[in-house]
This record gives sequence, C-alpha cells and structure tokens, in this order.
Amino acid sequence: MERLRVIGGASLRGSVHVSGAKNSALKLMAATLLAEGASTLHDVPAITDVDYMGELLTRLGAHVSRADGTITVDVPEKLAHEAPYELVRRLRASICVLGPLLARCGAADVALPGGDAIGSRGLDMHIAGLQRLGAEVNVEHGFVVARAPHGLKGAMIGLDFPSVGATENILMAAVLAEGETVIDNVAREPEIADICHMLRDMGAQIEGIGTSTLYVHGVESLRPTEHVTVPDRIVTGTWAVAAAMTRGDITVTNGRAEHLELVLDKLSTAGAVVEPGPDGLRVAMSGRPRAIDVVTLPYPGFPTDLQPMVVALNAVAQGTAMITENVYEARFMFVNELARLGAEVRIDGHHAVVRGREKLSGAPVVATDIRAGAGLVLAGLVAEGETLVSAVHHIDRGYPDFVGQLSRLGADVTREPDPDRFDN
Ligand code: UD1
Repeated sequence: MERLRVIGGASLRGSVHVSGAKNSALKLMAATLLAEGASTLHDVPAITDVDYMGELLTRLGAHVSRADGTITVDVPEKLAHEAPYELVRRLRASICVLGPLLARCGAADVALPGGDAIGSRGLDMHIAGLQRLGAEVNVEHGFVVARAPHGLKGAMIGLDFPSVGATENILMAAVLAEGETVIDNVAREPEIADICHMLRDMGAQIEGIGTSTLYVHGVESLRPTEHVTVPDRIVTGTWAVAAAMTRGDITVTNGRAEHLELVLDKLSTAGAVVEPGPDGLRVAMSGRPRAIDVVTLPYPGFPTDLQPMVVALNAVAQGTAMITENVYEARFMFVNELARLGAEVRIDGHHAVVRGREKLSGAPVVATDIRAGAGLVLAGLVAEGETLVSAVHHIDRGYPDFVGQLSRLGADVTREPDPDRFDN
C-alpha cells in the first residue's frame, strides 16, 4: 500500500496533457469483442483499470498487447463467455462485456460486481434491456447469466434513467441483433458518442448519436477497427478545478472545453478566467474563489465524477454553497475525510452545504474512491502543512501519472509506502 504526501501552498502553473478517457477506453476495449480479428485503440490511458480490463479480455480468449498509449485486442472466432468474480470485483466497468459476449456468443456469465464506496449501482436496466432483445437473463449464484441461443431480436427499449452502463450494454448487444432497435432516454455522455463512432467504423448501423434516442439497425457481423479514444473530460475538469482552487494558471492540452461547458461556466462564476483554445483550454485564478452551487445530473449536467473536486473548492471559497448529488447516493461519504482537513460541510440527504474557510489544515486522510481521492489531493494542495492521502491505488485507477503531472505543475507531492495500511 502506498500513500501521497502533499505539502500545501503551491499555486499550480504550467501545461498538462490529458489522455483518452478511462470511461471510454474501458468500453471501447469491451466493444472490440464484437468483431473477430485485431482492433487497435489509441490514446488509452496508463491506469490500472485498463490493466484489469486487459486481463479480463485475455481471460475471455483475446490476445491483448500494449505499447505506450496503444492497445491491440486480437479477438478469436470463439470466445469464452464467463467473466469471473475475482476480475469483475476489481473493475465494475467489466459489466460492459455482458452485451458484447451475449451478442457474439449467445451466452454470457458475468459476475455481479457488487457495490462500492459511492453507492449501490444497480443493474436492473441492463438486464431489462437485454431481456427486451430476447435474451433470457437471470441472476444466479452471484452471476448475471444471459442466454440467447437463437440470437437477439431488435426491440423498442426505454430506459427509466439515462444510465451510462445500461446504454452501452444494450447498444453493444443491439448492433448484432436482428432488425431494428430503438433505445430511448439513453445517456448522452461524450463517451457514448465515442463508442457509437467506433461501432459505426466496425460496420454497425447507428443513428441518433449524441441525442437521447439511438436507432440501431442490426447487422450480421462487425469488422475490427482502429480508433482514437476521446479525451478524458473528468481529468480535464480536475485540472481546471485545481487551477481555480490553488489560484494558479493551468493550460490543459487535448482537453475538450465543449464537453465541460457547465463546469467551466461554474468556474467562471467562481471568479476564474477560462479560455478555451483549439487544442485545449486554460484556467487561471488570481484571488479566492467564490462559492458555487452545483447540482449533479447526467450529461450535459454537472458530472457527478467532479463533485468531490467542487466540494473541495467550496471548502476554501468565499461564501456558502449547496451541492446536490443526484446520481450516486453515497458519494458524500468522502466528506468525512475532507472534514479531517477542517472543511465545514453539513450533509442532509443528497444535499451538502459547504461553508468556505480561508484555509484548510493538513491531516491524514483516506481516498475512498478514484474521484474522492483526487478531491482530497486538491484539498491537500490548499491546506496548511502536510496531508497524507492513503489508499492511493484508487487514484491510480483513473489518473495516469498523477504525481508526475502535479509535480510538473509545481505541487509538492510525493509517493511513499504507507506503513499504516496493508489492505483496503
Ligand atoms: C459511469 C461511469 C462513472 C460515472 C457514472 C455517471 C464508467 C466506468 N463509470 O458509471 O464514472 O460516475 O457513469 O456518470 O463509465 N442504475 C440503476 N440501475 C441500472 C443502472 C444504473 O439503478 O441498471 C443507477 C446507478 O445505481 C446510479 C445511476 O443509475 O445511481 C447512474 O449509473 P450509471 O449511469 O449506469 O453509471 P455507471 O455506468 O455505473
């Protein structure tokens, strides 16, 4: 186990490059299963979640090779169809092999990923959608067991909520189903458009990309492809908040301002200078940020994955902010850790009231998930003295070379063994 030692006080300044999105790359990797042959993905981030997904694809029979940011997945004609618990539990996103396996093999046994520190994360919409496509789907002995021995059939499917994972699983099954599928109330995250574009390059017929309704005309088979992963808007947003919080000046190259409109608008309200450019964006702040109210919602709403960062920003802002979490009920859990740094946050159900303080004070804290970990590091950067962030493996799941990038921006952050923690 390792931890980060963060010494507060630096203003982050300079340029930082953002690579492809974790939440896209993992799904693009799963989508390669839909076509026999070698697909190549570029700009895949160097994070542990990608390692885990590579292991899972290997277990399913694919040959996975990796060099720098490029991954090649060579998919055999016949795949294994069981995703075992010991792999799935490390990576909830592995549930997204369910749709591709069912479409390719007519069968999929995927272990239930279980809960994690941000909430219950149900699978009811994934299951209902695949059932509408004609599959028999049951939950048995800790597995989602799906069968469609005679293939899938196009259907009209309406999601109760625009779930990212359910949209992806149903879409990846529908592209090889017989006939037309209409999926209504789909998630509109840029990562969904990314996977749609890749599937189209593989020969899938999809209309309505970027809207709330996807129209899929099933095809018999798909071909392998080569694809560049969409840049990570959550990592980009993390750097944008970091610039504002530390009263710094950061240029994020490869960041897409158009995927962060609401976030950047909020940062402008907080007092930051925000300048979108052709290859990224710049965020600078000279004084103390003003408090900003935020309501998390599916895209294009404010992303839940940036909620911990914005709570951290408000903890040192001028004024009081109300943060409303609408996507994951337990995502405020990390606030207990933030309170150890002196943050004044009161939780009432899915609302948090954050009263800004001039300064936080460094203390040992524990990262409870990827984004909470990043939020705690940002808080450590504006805390007096030393903040020790343990369970850093959570941050490694989503932020490539976080410490290196922070250091190059002028932060005093080091990684070290954690003598107090042996597991988590
Ligand atoms: C993805 C992202 C995650 C992000 C989230 C919301 C990946 C790997 N992860 O997660 O970083 O925070 O989108 O933007 O891409 N739900 C159900 N039943 C279902 C499906 C979802 O109740 O069948 C609920 C979940 O419990 C949750 C909410 O819907 O409360 C949103 O979940 P969803 O959009 O599916 O998120 P993920 O795909 O798991």
